[in-house]
Amino acid sequence: MTDNATHHLALTAEDNAVLSPMLTDLAKRYDTVEDSELARRAPVLARALPVHLLEFLEEFRIGEPAALCVISGLAVDEAQLGPTPTHWRDSQFDSPAFPQEIFFLLCASVLGDVFGWGTQQDGRIMHDVLPIRGHENYEIGSNSLQPLSWHTEDAFHPCRGDYVALMCLKNPDEVATIVCTVPDLDLTNVDVDALFEPEFTVMPDNSHQPQNARESTGDAGVDALRARSFRLIELWNSNPDKRALFFGDRSSPYLSLDPYHMDPTGWPQRSQRAFAALVAEIEAKMTSVVLRPGDCVFIDNFRAVHGRKSFTPRYDGSDRWLKRLNITRNIRGSRAWRTAPDSRIIH
Ligand SMILES: [Fe+2]
Repeated sequence: MTDNATHHLALTAEDNAVLSPMLTDLAKRYDTVEDSELARRAPVLARALPVHLLEFLEEFRIGEPAALCVISGLAVDEAQLGPTPTHWRDSQFDSPAFPQEIFFLLCASVLGDVFGWGTQQDGRIMHDVLPIRGHENYEIGSNSLQPLSWHTEDAFHPCRGDYVALMCLKNPDEVATIVCTVPDLDLTNVDVDALFEPEFTVMPDNSHQPQNARESTGDAGVDALRARSFRLIELWNSNPDKRALFFGDRSSPYLSLDPYHMDPTGWPQRSQRAFAALVAEIEAKMTSVVLRPGDCVFIDNFRAVHGRKSFTPRYDGSDRWLKRLNITRNIRGSRAWRTAPDSRIIH
């Protein structure tokens, strides 16, 4: 089913009856979703997914029928999940959601190659999105009392993903993810030509700042690449490159922006006006999506911006808990940032 906003597939009981044994079996063969062999084999393993699911994902990838793709109804036993971790550092091994993580990884691998950032969550590929004590009012995905401002994922970076994907394990207070897609926009309210001009700047977001990373990975080569990345991030903070906010087809543009990390001071007047009008149009057309346990959403990072409303964290083990993946259709585009052709970590 597809409407303007969402390409949606609801998994049936029959689908789950096929998926459960397959995922349980795969979960026995690996220790963690961070096993590089699992990510490497994922595109091959994904071929065992139900054919109608593969066709559904392929249609989203190549036809762009919508900017959001939702697969709902994956079986999740919340009692078996146990408490929501208090920090993403505590979630990697013995994951109670490992079969669901594998499902999420396989679906993502139909759309492209999953990858991680050396500067984010200690270089993991699958991230946890959960409230962290002390981050409540900081502009980062682990905040809570403060809303997460809407943005293109990793808008500042030339290697940003084509998709950012979320899988919901728990969301007891029905905290809304907010989304606005290009098809929602009335482009007559926007100066499209100005937004295609390379007159704008976007600075790195807080999740990539050195203070949110551990000091050493224990690998000198990786540490050297990371040190270079952090120097670049400092440079992009102080002197960001000029770039366009729109690209691609002028009648239905791709976009990339992160207003919380943008400073219009010094831009041409027309660019400043175009940016303000685009922000206003996006905010007028913003919609809420409540993810429920077992929902996977694949957000087209070229055609949608996303954020999250504020909420009161519980810190009692029952907090909202999502998994997140970044997906690229051009892994070789980041080769200068990775240690090997089959490395999935951009440093
Ligand atoms: Fe995000």
